Amino acid sequence: MTDVRDYPNVLVMEHPLIQHKLSILRDEKTGAKEFRELVKELAMLMAYEATRNFQLAETTVKTPVTETTTKVLAGKKVAVIPILRAGLGMVDGILELIPAAKVGHVGLYRDPETLRPVEYYCKLPEDIGERDILIVDPMLATGGSAAAAVQFLRDRGAKEINLLVLLAAPEGIDEVVRTCDNIKIYTCAVDSHLNDHGYIVPGLGDAGDRLFGTK
Ligand code: PRP
Ligand code: URA
Repeated sequence: MTDVRDYPNVLVMEHPLIQHKLSILRDEKTGAKEFRELVKELAMLMAYEATRNFQLAETTVKTPVTETTTKVLAGKKVAVIPILRAGLGMVDGILELIPAAKVGHVGLYRDPETLRPVEYYCKLPEDIGERDILIVDPMLATGGSAAAAVQFLRDRGAKEINLLVLLAAPEGIDEVVRTCDNIKIYTCAVDSHLNDHGYIVPGLGDAGDRLFGTK
């Protein structure tokens, strides 16, 4: 049984606002419009935490009162990489906080029989190796999709990788920690287990279908 306390690179975001919004997200009665809004808000709150250690430099600003020394972001630029398609729901919230971030896309779907990820698209910023990366996907289930996305990015030179998921199964955390070196995982909750179809229990159902109303 996974105990995230054994994983220093896994952060469970216990903030009350996050937990409250996550409960509404889980509710089967929550419709697509509200579901999309909540995913966006949760992504924004997660990005706030995931950027906590970004570098700052001093600058000088003249306020209406006097000149003063203040701080501005000075570290690497950011790339947000949604795993298609459900990861798309998390992009806009992050771009509201970090409007200069570039967005790359990794297209993966889970084969319903094997549960293994199948790649169908990959388009990344050219300077991906120079950027701090936020991979976003609402669900970390078996971990196959996230591990494949990390591998695509590594193959193309990516170094600093953070994975932001709304919900994680213990199995998915184990898989990403086992297969991916040097990445940090942020999640709002670690659920109980996966069912026979690879769905997170209790979970929130199929994130892509709930976001885009396809079921
Ligand atoms: C979902 C989810 C993840 C993946 C997680 O996508 O958004 O990408 O499953 O499962 P895993 O950890 O077992 O790989 P899905 O394959 O349903 O595609 P979609 O986003 O297009 O709905
Ligand atoms: N993908 C989803 O959308 N939900 C799950 O529970 C597992 C994978």
